[in-house]
Order: sequence, then C-alpha cells, then structure tokens
Amino acid sequence: FTVQADKPGAVIQPTMYGVFFEDINMGADGGLYAELVKNRSFEFDNPLMGWTVNGKKDEGDILVLNSTAYNKANPHYLHIRVNNRRKGEWGLTNEGFKGMGIRKGVTYCFSVKYSTNQPGVTVYAELTTPSGKVIGAGSFTAAPTGADWSTKEVTFTASAEEPSARLTVWLEGNGSIDMDMISLFPGDTWKNRPKGLRADMVQMLADMQPGFVRFPGGCIVEGRNLANRFQWKKTVGPPEDRELIINRWNTEFGHRLTPDYYQSFGLGFFEYFQLAEDIGAAPLPILNCGMACQFNTAELAPMDALQPYVQDAIDLVEFANGPADSKWGKVRADMGHPAPFHLTMIGVGNENWGPQYVERAAEFARQLKAAHPEIKLVFSSGTDPDGPRFNYLNDTLRKMNADFIDEHYYRNPEWFLANAGRYDHYPREGAKVFAGEYAAHESKNFTGASRNTLRAAIAEAAFLTGLERNADVVHMASYAPLFASAEQWQWAPDLIWVNSLKVVGTPSYQVQKLYSRNKGTHVLPLHQGNEPVKGKDSLYASAVFDKNTGDVIVKIVNASQQTTVRTIQVTGSNKVAGSATLTTLTAKDPVTVNTFDEMPVQPVVSTVPVRRQAVTLKLAPNSLSVLRIGG
Ligand code: AHR
Repeated sequence: FTVQADKPGAVIQPTMYGVFFEDINMGADGGLYAELVKNRSFEFDNPLMGWTVNGKKDEGDILVLNSTAYNKANPHYLHIRVNNRRKGEWGLTNEGFKGMGIRKGVTYCFSVKYSTNQPGVTVYAELTTPSGKVIGAGSFTAAPTGADWSTKEVTFTASAEEPSARLTVWLEGNGSIDMDMISLFPGDTWKNRPKGLRADMVQMLADMQPGFVRFPGGCIVEGRNLANRFQWKKTVGPPEDRELIINRWNTEFGHRLTPDYYQSFGLGFFEYFQLAEDIGAAPLPILNCGMACQFNTAELAPMDALQPYVQDAIDLVEFANGPADSKWGKVRADMGHPAPFHLTMIGVGNENWGPQYVERAAEFARQLKAAHPEIKLVFSSGTDPDGPRFNYLNDTLRKMNADFIDEHYYRNPEWFLANAGRYDHYPREGAKVFAGEYAAHESKNFTGASRNTLRAAIAEAAFLTGLERNADVVHMASYAPLFASAEQWQWAPDLIWVNSLKVVGTPSYQVQKLYSRNKGTHVLPLHQGNEPVKGKDSLYASAVFDKNTGDVIVKIVNASQQTTVRTIQVTGSNKVAGSATLTTLTAKDPVTVNTFDEMPVQPVVSTVPVRRQAVTLKLAPNSLSVLRIGG
C-alpha cells in the first residue's frame, strides 16, 4: 500500500463521526436519565403501574386524583389516608425499571412533592434487596403546608451494592397526605448534577469524542400518532411541568414487550443540548415534520395545519441560540444556561417518505431558510438504501438544495462490505451525506440472534473506510441505536448495552471509537498499485493526515479469514521514521461478542518499527488495524 503524505485532499469534517441517541431500549427513562423510580408522577395510563400497595387495603386509603387545576401537564397525584399506622404497616413499593441499581457508598436523594394540612404523618423511604434486606433509608415528618405543596428531599448512603433493589415509602401516623413526584436519584450523576444523567453511560459517549449528538431519535420524533410525537417545548422547564407521553416503542416488536414504556422527559431538549456541549459535540436535533411514524399510524397534519410544526423549528433556534432575554432564550437562561448552545443544524423529519414528505419538507425549508439562513437543514431519504423510493427522495431533496440528506442502512454484513464504495461515484456538488443510522445486522429479526458480533463490526469498519475516503461528500455518520438495556429492549443490535449497574461497549462501539478518535483532518491518497484499496482480497483501507499532530493515520480492515501481510509505504514525507503506534481490534472467532463480564474484543496498542518510511503489518483475520505514524 502506498500513502501519499504530501497530497492532502478533502477536509474531514469535525462532525464526521457522531452519536445517534433515541429513547428506544430504555435509552432515556431507565437508562441515561438516572431517575430510579418508574412512573414517579402517576401519569401512566394505569396511574399505579410500577407501584404496589403494601399492607391492608381499606377502601379510600389511597386515591389517585386527576386535576388539571393542580397541574395541566401532570394532573395525577395520590391522596393517602394514614389511619393510626406504624412504619411497616402500610406503604407503596416502586419496582424501578426492572429493579434499581444501587451502589455501595453512594448517596441517594429521595424526594417527594407533598401537601398536608395537619402535622402527624412521617414518611419513610427504604431501599431493599429482593430478599428484603434494607440497604438504605431516610425519613421526614411532613410539616403542614396548608393548601400549598412543598418538595422535601432526604439523602442517605447505600450500605451495599444491589442490581435489583426496590424503594418502599412507608407512611406512619394519623392524618392524610397528598403526594406526587416520588423520586430517587443517585448522587454520583454525570458532573454530579443533581437529578442528572447516569455518569457511566455519558462517559462511554465522552470517550468516543463524537463530533455531534443527534437527538431525540428516530421514530420517537414521529410518534405512534401526532398527539404522541416528540414536542420539544413540552420537554423544557421544571421536570414536574413536562407532559409525559406513551413511547413509540411501547409494546412494539422485540424480545421483551414493554407496556410500561413512557417518556417522562426528565431528559429533555435542554439536557440534550447540555450533554452535547459537555462532550464537545455539535447538537443535531431532529424535529417532527407533521407526519406520525409511517410504520405505525401514518397520521398526517394537513398543509393548512403545518404552521405550529414549522414554528417549533424556528423557535428552537431561539431556544438554543437566542439572547437570554428573548422569549425562548429566557427559558434556556432560566434553566441555568444564559450562553447560547451554538446550534448550526436541524433535521426535518425522520424516515418519512412520499410526496407528503416532500411537500412538508419544502415548507420547512422555505420558512427556516428565510428566518435562519445560518442553520443547515437535514432531510431524510429513509430506510431502503437500494430501493426506488430512496432514489426518488434523494434526487428530489437534492433538487431542493438540501444541505444534508440523512441515509439509513440496517443491512447484513455482506451489504456493508459490498457497499464500501457506495460514495465513490456520488455527485460531488450539492447536498452532503449524513449516514444517520446504520448497523450491520447478523439476522433480520430483532431478537437474540441479531447480536453485536465482531464480524458485524468489521463489516461496519470496512464501510467506514469508504465514508472516510469520500469525506468531501460524507460529512456525518452515526451508528444506531446507541443504547440498549439488557433488561428491556425492542431492537438489536445496539452500540452500547447497559444493565442497572454496568455498561459494555460492543465490538461496533470499539470500531466507532477508533474511527472517531483517529479521524484526522484531511484525506490522503492510498493505493495498491494504481487502485484505491477497497475490497480486493477482502482488504479495505483509508488514510488521513492529522494537521493538529502531523500524524499520518492508516486504517486497514481485513475482512477475510486469513492472515495477510502488507507493507504500508509513506511517500512525500521525510519525517516518517522510528516507530509508529498500532492499535488492533480482533478476536479468533468472527462471532465473538463482548459481555458485561468479558470483553474479548478491545483495542490492543503496540509499537511497530518504521523502516525506510514503511511499516510492515501482519493483518489478522477479522481485524481492524489503526496505524499512527508520527509526523
Ligand atoms: O434505530 C432504530 C430505528 O430505526 C429508528 O427509530 C428509526 O429511525 C429506524 O427505523
């Protein structure tokens, strides 16, 4: 292989490799959002879903009241009669999201919004193991609030680790109390922000050094119907005023049905922007375009009712970038971020199609470009990368001067290998490519067989060499979905698996991380003889220059079952000497997977000699090698 170090070509965008976040597979509630209580505000269709009542059930002991005068967005709350009871006689237990993950030594914050007009009720919070052992507890005596509500927080430290704890709220005394927003958060959240995000999950993202964070999805942008679409304005401000909806992925296909999948929006648009900022990534929100999920109800807002959807997009720019005294900029400032979030792009629609999409996309483009010419627009060309619908949309959106076209591909590993040259002959002018969702699927059903194997990751790595080689037209790429809870998921494979206490990066995660952290700044020509390296003998490769470090970086994928030896000769630089750093990702068996307990597929770093500006490498079967030659 020959790399021409003195011929830097296309610029590689800082956004090249990013992450796609969607609240699927319990990605938000029960995942990234560290709240441990499920249905804390009693707004699920069954208001006591997730809760069980302990003790004697006398009529009228517990009522669920529904009052929009109390809270328009979250009208339910509990009215509990405490009838000369002692601790342990009557209480409510929350199961968490298939159990609560508790860490020894961590401080937990129990909080409840309550109202009572007489003294006499003591509230106990108790964390227990499945066998009933108490591993953390706190209490308070409710001071009278009159007709008002008060929020009380109690902290305590857990005495043991438990992956499947429960929270019981015991009520003692005599009287009555109204309760809402019963919550439990760990104190060790990301950046120790009170009631924030799960630190270990965010750390996995930060480690990738992603160029962008796309949020909030995915199909949940569209919703199962328009009433249950994602509306960003309902996800900002105080959490108790954010209106919960049923998740698009509630009781969908998957190996475990999830009738209890709702969106509390504790993780809302402010938190998404803040997350992107924290990890140095550009925010990329995707908004509903007036169409509900076409794989679901396919409900449509008529053109004469589209304006609120377009206005949401225009107002989002003000929320993200507007002055702190503007209407929406003030909402951001009041939430603690007077400085702008530097929004530069917005996606309109997700996997929508047909003339209805084109008509709506055109209206968004017309108004958004007039109001905010500085914002780049992303349009979607859907799910079938080889089909006529895709080509039609692609052509139409290009003619509409789309800034980016969002292409999705969930295909088998063979497709990814065969498509490593997909963008070699793509039009160089006009719309750029956002490979917004992709993953190599070992099988078409979304059940256990569709695992995150090394083979799938290697096929993705081969495909990425093609994206990188064509960085003049491909500006962004993200694997999807990002997170999955091993306890409750609807879709597999996924990039990162979590349970209540652990996280594991799949082989695909390792590939994404290696590409993102070694993306460089400019494409370099890389040839075998006169041909670019793209699949001959199952070898795929790309080369880049990093102007910040002066390094030449070569990524080589061996998708074959044989070890192969290749020499990488660097021309056009006399600085290439001494040694180079080689990072290799491989395992013996192509169907190897990483688990919570074992991580056989991890990058291994070594040093290799550079002789006469060349490095000779033994490329293992099913391997990705990243060679960094210092400048
Ligand atoms: O990533 C999972 C789903 O795949 C997304 O919600 C949707 O956009 C696509 O069909």
